[in-house]
Amino acid sequence: MREKKVVFITGASSGFGLSIANKLASEGHKVYGTSRAPAKVKERVNFDMLQLDVTSDESVRDCIQSLLSRTERIDAVINNAGVAVVGAIEETTLEQAKFQFETNLWGCVRVTKAVLPVFRRQRKGHIINIGSLAGLVGVPFEGFYTASKHALEGYSKSLRYELETFNIRVTVIEPGFFKTNIHHSFVSATERISDYDGIRPKVLSALLASAENAPPPEIVAELVSKVIRTQNPKFSYRAGKDARLFPILNFFFPNIYNAGAKRKFRLA
Ligand SMILES: NC(=O)c1ccc[n+]([C@@H]2O[C@H](COP(=O)([O-])OP(=O)(O)OC[C@H]3O[C@@H](n4cnc5c(N)ncnc54)[C@H](OP(=O)(O)O)[C@@H]3O)[C@@H](O)[C@H]2O)c1
Repeated sequence: MREKKVVFITGASSGFGLSIANKLASEGHKVYGTSRAPAKVKERVNFDMLQLDVTSDESVRDCIQSLLSRTERIDAVINNAGVAVVGAIEETTLEQAKFQFETNLWGCVRVTKAVLPVFRRQRKGHIINIGSLAGLVGVPFEGFYTASKHALEGYSKSLRYELETFNIRVTVIEPGFFKTNIHHSFVSATERISDYDGIRPKVLSALLASAENAPPPEIVAELVSKVIRTQNPKFSYRAGKDARLFPILNFFFPNIYNAGAKRKFRLA
């Protein structure tokens, strides 16, 4: 019989988080998901929901305390909560850039720091960070999102070495474009600069089209379900054709990749 795990996943109200939590719960794992407003989704899901805002130290502390009052062990933590700030780098305010990092990077750091004492005590645990293709290549008009995901990659790469001796694994899932709410709930850069008026609508419509025509999040849920069961998980897994192909193309044939990327985002 397959081992049943205790899994904690942030941002389980929508998109990847909801899909992963549903999938793991349906497989018999004990799943604790989170949302900033859990009451809104509690009735619609088959797993436990806790309140969590990853941008708040206090909220993270309270949430992990509440989790530990319900379970004696945690097998895996999935840092999934994320947002996207969309717009040219120069048109993004510093506050918006910081907000991007506050959720995508520092949110993951806060949650990880809060659960590591439990994992070290257990001498066992698995941290799964939801990175992105944007953590591997540049994406125009998602510059700070891209920077936050590159930072998450670097953080995870170092963390992996530090935790190996405690039998704690670190994995990054790197999805390409998938159809979730992130492309509807994004924050728009607010400092309008008319020089960008020509390219802004073209790049934004290309980004939205990529998201609209993207595969469903269940593909990533399927992958995470396999990764959770793997005895010796790899450091990274790519999800989606774009995530598998683009970084390789960029590495071996950068000129071809750059020309293709400019065409894709309608910059050429
Ligand atoms: N969709 C893609 O194409 C794609 C590709 C690569 C990577 N990703 C990554 O996948 C992850 C999930 O995104 P998604 O695409 O599934 O988007 P989504 O459908 O918009 O879901 C985002 C989730 O994050 C939660 N969240 C946002 N801000 C939060 C905060 N401050 N504290 C706690 N939770 C917060 C939301 O929960 P509440 O609003 O209920 O709090 C929601 O459950 C993100 O890290 C994203 O960067 C997405």
